Amino acid sequence: TVVPVILSGGAGTRLWPLSRALYPKQFLKLIPNDERSLLQTTLMRLPEGDGIAAPIVLCNNDHRFLVAESAQDCGVATGAIVLEPTARNTAPAIATAALWARAVDPEAVLVVMPSDHVIADEEGFRAAVKRAIAVAQTGRLVMFGITPNQPHTGYGYVRQDEPLEGFGDTAFAVAKFTEKPDAETAEAYLKDPHYFWNSGIFVLHAKTFLAELERLQPQIVRAAKGALGNAQTDLDFLRLDEKRFAESPSISIDHAVMEHTDKAAMLPLDIGWSDVGSWSALAELGETDERGNVVAGLAAEPSQAFFEDSSNCYVYSTRSLVSTIGLNDMVIVETPDALLVSHKSRTQDVGKLVERLRSGD
Ligand code: GDD
Ligand code: MG
Repeated sequence: TVVPVILSGGAGTRLWPLSRALYPKQFLKLIPNDERSLLQTTLMRLPEGDGIAAPIVLCNNDHRFLVAESAQDCGVATGAIVLEPTARNTAPAIATAALWARAVDPEAVLVVMPSDHVIADEEGFRAAVKRAIAVAQTGRLVMFGITPNQPHTGYGYVRQDEPLEGFGDTAFAVAKFTEKPDAETAEAYLKDPHYFWNSGIFVLHAKTFLAELERLQPQIVRAAKGALGNAQTDLDFLRLDEKRFAESPSISIDHAVMEHTDKAAMLPLDIGWSDVGSWSALAELGETDERGNVVAGLAAEPSQAFFEDSSNCYVYSTRSLVSTIGLNDMVIVETPDALLVSHKSRTQDVGKLVERLRSGD
């Protein structure tokens, strides 16, 4: 069985002030000319066919109704909506999904998908997932590699090794994986054609993944087992045991497993992938005027910004007309109760700002 697993537990803080704790970015309609939210787009692009099970979605308890409604609105029947009482990052979430799937089928393969990506070529994506499933069935933990175009420090970098036997030139062993390198390292990786970005989509043989996790982070497996074993069924939801889940370290799959395993494989992918991680990433998806400015927003009005002698600016407004004079490379996001003005090159730091706002210092 192949089990699609959707991770919908992120807070999306880098898209503040639009993305909020109770309504994070995966539930927002952020993509120009797209009526669906990011989560719905993810649900709609799932691979289908023989041997592919209904998707399971893992999210925070607070977002259960948003997830259930999102799936219902786009006509996708979920296999389970698993509720995390506290956010413990992606490794425990995927461990829980793997345990769930392995109980259904000991040879289950997971297709793990973040809920915050844009993929232009969906057919290409499904074809790549098909190839990846075959690679995962040989006991590999499969990542997809995207050709980098900038020294982005918010991604993981995969170094390609020799081609894997039996898969032509489509699948490679992984020499090294580095999650979120510093700026200098990212610059060096950008110049080396062997390095790819990790897309954040994983195709994992559940049994192999759990064995690697058991070896590297046994506490996560123990906590996930306890949380799932003592889970409560509530309406359509599966509520993980709070106390047991909280016993897991909070760590991503990238740091917990992919940086250390020697079972990783990488399939290069060219499908118009984009991580909608920050305002500058969103700016790249928008339609520009002749000076590179982009207007976006919830407002029905086609134009909610007026640019005078300005270039490469991005304005997102929910109700106000925003005007700029003599500005270059700026991001302005207007919402009813908060306004963000940032240099385009610094939108990665919005998450840090939100942390400061939360802690009040
Ligand atoms: N269920 C659940 N629980 N989901 C979570 C949690 C959690 O505690 N934390 C994050 N997620 C979800 C997010 O909603 C997102 O869909 C996905 O998991 C990835 O988390 P991010 O927090 O967005 O990770 P990232 O973008 O910093 O890094 C990952 O993605 C990059 C590509 O976009 C890494 O895999 C990088 O290596 C990769 O390059
Ligand atoms: Mg992300």
